[in-house]
Amino acid sequence: MKKIIIAGNWKMNKTQKEALKFLQEFKSNLEEVNGTREIVLCAPFTALGIMSKSQYGGGIRLAAQNIHWEDKGAYTGEISGAMLTELRVNYVVVGHSERRQYFGETDETVNLRMIAAQNHGLTPIFCVGESKSQRDAGETETVIINQIKRGLVNLDQSNLVIAYEPIWAIGTGYTCEAIEANHIIGIIRSQLLNKEVSIQYGGSVKSSNINEIMAQPEIDGVLVGGASLDPVEFARIVNYQ
Ligand code: 13P
Repeated sequence: MKKIIIAGNWKMNKTQKEALKFLQEFKSNLEEVNGTREIVLCAPFTALGIMSKSQYGGGIRLAAQNIHWEDKGAYTGEISGAMLTELRVNYVVVGHSERRQYFGETDETVNLRMIAAQNHGLTPIFCVGESKSQRDAGETETVIINQIKRGLVNLDQSNLVIAYEPIWAIGTGYTCEAIEANHIIGIIRSQLLNKEVSIQYGGSVKSSNINEIMAQPEIDGVLVGGASLDPVEFARIVNYQ
């Protein structure tokens, strides 16, 4: 049975104080129906500890936004699996296009980070997606299949979430048509050994388009950026019908 996972990726936003305020407001806007949906917040490292201890954190899973492949050592600015599991983190976002674009992540480092996550009992949220120029050149399928093949080497597909995030739809207000996202996610699934992996869509998801996105048969959840920063708006997304 595929899990429905609605995740908010806060990126480099929210202090500890702001994160706690968010949790309180978000919780008061959630509806009962949410028992069947897993809610995940991908918070900055500095907010994870306090969020896992918060009285408003119940029923919400936490994700980190990075993990290093080594367990410890001289890797300034990186974070290890043990540092995350100590904070009761369940997921870790790996291979986000912003990490690939601005911080030199490659399919190989993405793969190493995901293996480390699994070795520590964390579930990687593996992001893939094509750029606008790749899409315009008709290369979407090739790009995605290559990212999937290279990223998943030696990975355990029973402990994995994938997020399809077309780069041209991130933070731009342009959402990929739900039917197109469904089609690409179907292609991603065709590359997997485990067909039950939950595959999310990400890119300008809002309360106004969530129903249409979640109505698609291949789409098992969403990874929300900007709209997850507002507790009322993110609750509306989680409460989709
Ligand atoms: P937006 O929802 O702001 O487009 O961001 C999507 C994203 O990058 C989630 O990881």
